[in-house]
Amino acid sequence: MLDSPWRADFPGILALAGEGQTYLDSAATAQKPQVVLDALLGYYSGGAANVHRAQHLPGERATRAFEASRLAAAHWLNAASSDEIIFTRGSTESLNLLAYSLEETFSAGDEIVISALEHHANLLPWQQLARRKALKLVVLPLDPLGAVDLHQAATLIGPRTRLLAVSQLSNVLGRWQPVRELLALARAHGALTVIDGAQGAVHGRHDMQAMGCDFYVCSSHKLYGPDGVGVLYGRRAALAQLRHWQFGGEMVQQADYHSASFRPAPLGFEAGTPPIAGVIALGATLDYLGGLDAAAVSGHEAALHLKLLAGLAARDGIQLLGTPHVALASFTVDGLHSSDLAHLLSEQGIAVRAGHHCAMPLMNSLGLSGAIRVSLGLYNDGADLERFFSALDKSLELLR
Ligand code: ALA
Repeated sequence: MLDSPWRADFPGILALAGEGQTYLDSAATAQKPQVVLDALLGYYSGGAANVHRAQHLPGERATRAFEASRLAAAHWLNAASSDEIIFTRGSTESLNLLAYSLEETFSAGDEIVISALEHHANLLPWQQLARRKALKLVVLPLDPLGAVDLHQAATLIGPRTRLLAVSQLSNVLGRWQPVRELLALARAHGALTVIDGAQGAVHGRHDMQAMGCDFYVCSSHKLYGPDGVGVLYGRRAALAQLRHWQFGGEMVQQADYHSASFRPAPLGFEAGTPPIAGVIALGATLDYLGGLDAAAVSGHEAALHLKLLAGLAARDGIQLLGTPHVALASFTVDGLHSSDLAHLLSEQGIAVRAGHHCAMPLMNSLGLSGAIRVSLGLYNDGADLERFFSALDKSLELLR
């Protein structure tokens, strides 16, 4: 029951199963399909070469493949142009890039608005920027379901707001956030907008032109692609407001010993040798994902999610965090420490995430020191969940 037709495409999930491991931590990082492994190997075994520098055949070939991935990412996100796609090393780097590159646009007293559920990657760069520039960091509170409270947001986003940076989907609560409404509030006050799509990009395609944010970030490794690659989308006019932040090879137009001028986005923000193999393999990832039946994938994930939620609800003393929309669930168990439970689950070959999930302020505000999170990918199946529940029952029996 609940078999995944895509499981066989993912050698990693099969290898883990072969050693008795049930992988339920895809929100941390996802397994990769064979086509992605082939693309990585193909680049290296076919002859590695740097991009945008050389006139030789291997260099031209690598540059063509690298730029084809930029086009694929632009198409995936329905950006207006591939010039609106900057490749970084991940969502964390993209958000740090924005915080440093926008620094000069802020003056003391300006306000940056985030939400109470942000991952550290979309909190700390803004928190530290606020400290450097004497800005005010405004934190939007949540409603009981785990979404940003729009009534309060409407009073907290105001004329001093210069930037709004919020997650599209919480990595802890698994709930879609009211991004459209928040963007409208921020735009009404002329603020720049940043959407952290690290989790959201994994669940469905998102249209940048329809969404209307200034910047959107996501990571390849959560989207079944290689790690070390991030995608930073920026609306052309918003990209023009960024100051260059990392300096080095290939981002420069003209340099002498005492001054230099720099390329515009995207290449001006890709200093040094980029993660070439990873970017090329991200293109293969998007091809693979684009070839899947999206409705079948979301139907499968929704069915697994229902089974997960029903199984948790059927057991005494389990407290779900928020009301998740997508295939993940974070929970605590009355009277038990989540790290003890995680330890027993992991001894039984169940790979789930435990702890604060890089969202310490959210956990503190919920009065928790940690929680267990089960997160599912398109390759998981009903048998994975049955193994999880049987290990959970054994662990609860032992700990109680
Ligand atoms: N941000 C990743 C997670 O939620 C690592 O697990």
